Amino acid sequence: MTPRFAGSTALVTGAASGIGAAAAERLAREGARVVALDRDGAALERRYAGVPDIVRVEQDLGGPMPDEFLDSLDSVHRLGDLRILVNAAGVLHRSPAIDHDLGTWEHTLAVNVTAPYRLSQLFVRRRLRLGGPGVIVNVCSIESFTAAPDHVAYTVSKSAMLMLTRAFALELAPHGIRVNGIAPGVTETEMNRSLREDAAAARRLTGRIPMGRFGVPGEQAAAIAFLASPEASYITGAVLPVDGGWLTA
Ligand SMILES: NC(=O)c1ccc[n+]([C@@H]2O[C@H](COP(=O)([O-])OP(=O)(O)OC[C@H]3O[C@@H](n4cnc5c(N)ncnc54)[C@H](O)[C@@H]3O)[C@@H](O)[C@H]2O)c1
Repeated sequence: MTPRFAGSTALVTGAASGIGAAAAERLAREGARVVALDRDGAALERRYAGVPDIVRVEQDLGGPMPDEFLDSLDSVHRLGDLRILVNAAGVLHRSPAIDHDLGTWEHTLAVNVTAPYRLSQLFVRRRLRLGGPGVIVNVCSIESFTAAPDHVAYTVSKSAMLMLTRAFALELAPHGIRVNGIAPGVTETEMNRSLREDAAAARRLTGRIPMGRFGVPGEQAAAIAFLASPEASYITGAVLPVDGGWLTA
């Protein structure tokens, strides 16, 4: 059987670690040429040095992104028929809402909302110029739907990403570009390592999850790959919970 993503290029952000890395590896395994972007160049190097179908781009998404960003990437890394964009990079700063400092708030919104917005915009412009279908998968969160304590900027950013997904999906459906998201529940990555290593906190959290365990990055990557694939050809504007049942309660 021909691999699902043979002939496509995929740009995956946050690809040095966790969910983004699992998505990059899954898409590459299924035939895509992957451009793996992350601010952590050393981690990209450790993970992908010598992997032929994954090229590495060290880039901090916390700053402004010029209109020429994808063209400049293209000149070095040959984006080719860039058909898939996975917005997985994200940051989470924990602090009570009344103490959350403005810089942290702004950084969270810059990385978690403005960067996916700008990248999606540039991806779509390029797609419309080249013609043919495209697909965006945004890594949202259960916190796109429900708040958690000490996460005010993160929760706000992830609910914005939910509506970013729907707004882009609505406008781009007539152009054959599908835009969806996943809403991961608590998944074993660096983002929550300290919490998971605190036995009492881990017990409290798993006790809140109907399936009684954390997710793993591969389970998120499977959902990303499904939404990016032709098997999801009639799905757009959806944000799929991958959360062990968290949002059912
Ligand atoms: N782990 C979870 O439980 C969970 C739950 C819901 C949603 N998410 C979301 O999943 C996505 C991936 O997170 P993860 O859990 O894999 O965490 P992670 O910390 O393992 O990975 C995040 C990656 O994003 C990169 N990144 C952060 N800021 C960046 C920037 N300014 N520019 C470029 N790259 C940057 C990091 O270097 C890292 O490689 C995030 O959007 C996160 O909000 C995670």
